[in-house]
Amino acid sequence: YVDLGNILETTPGVTPDILDRLDSRVATAHDRIQTGMENEEHGYAALNLPETVDTDEIKTAVDRFDDPESIITVGIGGSALGAATIDAALSTPDHADTYYLDNVDPEAINALLETIDLEDTVVNVVSRSGTTAETLANFLVVQEAMADADVEWSDRTVVTTGDEGNLRDLADAHDLPVLRVPDGVPGRFSALSTVGLAVAALQGYDLDAIVEGAASEADKLSGSLYDSPAYAYGAATYALAERGALTNALMPYSEDLEYFAEWFAQLWAESLGKDGVGQTPARALGATDQHSQLQLYRAGPRDKVVTLVRPRNRRDRQIPETDLDGLSYLGGSSLGELLAAEFEATEASLAAAGRPNIRIEIDRVDERGIGELLYGMEAACIMYGELANVSTFTQPAVEWGKRAARGLLGGGEFEEAAAVADKRELL
Ligand code: PA5
Repeated sequence: YVDLGNILETTPGVTPDILDRLDSRVATAHDRIQTGMENEEHGYAALNLPETVDTDEIKTAVDRFDDPESIITVGIGGSALGAATIDAALSTPDHADTYYLDNVDPEAINALLETIDLEDTVVNVVSRSGTTAETLANFLVVQEAMADADVEWSDRTVVTTGDEGNLRDLADAHDLPVLRVPDGVPGRFSALSTVGLAVAALQGYDLDAIVEGAASEADKLSGSLYDSPAYAYGAATYALAERGALTNALMPYSEDLEYFAEWFAQLWAESLGKDGVGQTPARALGATDQHSQLQLYRAGPRDKVVTLVRPRNRRDRQIPETDLDGLSYLGGSSLGELLAAEFEATEASLAAAGRPNIRIEIDRVDERGIGELLYGMEAACIMYGELANVSTFTQPAVEWGKRAARGLLGGGEFEEAAAVADKRELL
């Protein structure tokens, strides 16, 4: 569910009339997206995942790992954030502890490897290209740490990668179980594929319910923003960006969705930041950031839209009654009611100050809900990309850095590495 009411009242130029006119462009963009999906074109194919993903294959690949104490995912960017988002949304203290090696900070990696019981750890290595330096380096380090601890690392590793690349070679050489990254699915659109679902399978979440949630959003895609919540969000954020809302602060009112804001930041920035356009994602958490960032969002530059996300239902907890003067208003209420009041107050306070905000709601943060959110936001991003006429599924700036890093370490002749080497010489 997406509510755009507070963009019409707040943003000059964003009128019902403008949305009506945008709707005909949404119809054209939807046709393009449909064609891309039908032809399984790169990027658009991600929207077919609710139909194409084979959840049984994923469950079978991790079947042999019996209830591990810890799961280390070695991957970066789109090869880590989807899994981390699903896991953060669904995990409870009785699930395995999960760690994401999506950086190569030696301090952090030493601390982790010195602390956890590697014998009771599953290593989930993910790289679409199979060549990403950070991922390969971290995998080699984890592998060595396991060997040093007399753990048969190859029995405790599952790999997700493409048909070629160093990671595939490594997996083949050691006969590791491999899940294949589907064709046409870029990293940041891969949460609902083998890439994002292996951790969910290891944790025993209901993969089919995640996919069903995504499928229910897919069913709502249509040629009108008035019928499709995902397209409504994509079109509205595009219209707002065109009128100066160059920052999109995503603020879930649910700790379980804090990581969703992290995932959203990658999706939005890497997909839409092209050709001098784009909308900078900011991450916030309600109600916590009402006591920090909200000041800026309500009274700072008029260059933002705030996206407020919440589940309609969640487990609740009563606030104890008290006869302390001044606190009796809390007694008899619940934490959930307080959080709902905070959410609505933020929405109203932004609107009263003429600041555009959009409400996104799901029924609850469960498998189905997270599937809906991930799919809906991907479709929204693709719609935005179509309207802005950018190449949503490429990431040349990211690739530049990847080639430079590999080249600097002697992993190939790359002109990007030469540019960095020249700069080093100047310093
Ligand atoms: O979205 C993207 O394309 C990137 O964030 C990649 O996911 C990231 O660079 C990791 O790439 P790979 O999966 O090839 O290791």
